[in-house]
Amino acid sequence: MALHKTIPLQAQHMLEAAKLRRIALWHRLPGLRDVHSLHEDRDYWVTHLLRTCTILGAMVEDRLVGVIAYRQGWIEQLYVLPDFQCHGIGSLFIYRVQEAMDETRLWTFQRNAPARRFYERHGFAADKETDGSGNEEREPDILYHWHRPPDWTSHASSTAET
Ligand SMILES: CC(C)(COP(=O)(O)OP(=O)(O)OC[C@H]1O[C@@H](n2cnc3c(N)ncnc32)[C@H](O)[C@@H]1OP(=O)(O)O)[C@@H](O)C(=O)NCCC(=O)NCCS
Repeated sequence: MALHKTIPLQAQHMLEAAKLRRIALWHRLPGLRDVHSLHEDRDYWVTHLLRTCTILGAMVEDRLVGVIAYRQGWIEQLYVLPDFQCHGIGSLFIYRVQEAMDETRLWTFQRNAPARRFYERHGFAADKETDGSGNEEREPDILYHWHRPPDWTSHASSTAET
């Protein structure tokens, strides 16, 4: 894969970010309940996530291939396009968050085993599980928590990006 760079995303990127999330999530979890249209999703990125989160995009040439949205204490969104997964982009995003804060939490769906393994490798531990009755997709989910251990090593010099 060509080297990528990470940039802060702005309002004009939010439609692409919403599309990317839909592609990555339904590729990983086919059959997941689809509760919003693409344009509703885009509005959520613009009116909620962009106002409350830092949103970074991974670009390969001029194409958006990965996105993360995070705020103090929480990762709200993390998605990489299927063809660009397993090249270190997700890890690079996680390192950015772990550099920026001492602890963070995120929700993922229980049946998303690859994402769970990915988070656990990055030091996240399960906090609690739900039966999904509280989320829009009605899908059992799990809350993960990371806090910086005393022996934590910075990955600031990671070379996965240009
Ligand atoms: C979960 C997700 C964000 C991870 O992003 P990613 O870019 O694939 O993450 P990485 O490439 O850093 O790591 C993924 C795996 O590839 C491996 N990997 C990383 N760089 C690699 C390389 N150069 N060569 C081979 N393998 C590599 C990692 O060891 C890791 O293995 P693990 O999952 O068993 O821990 C991504 O897979 C995704 O978008 N999934 C679908 C949507 C989703 O589930 N999002 C999370 C919702 S909460």
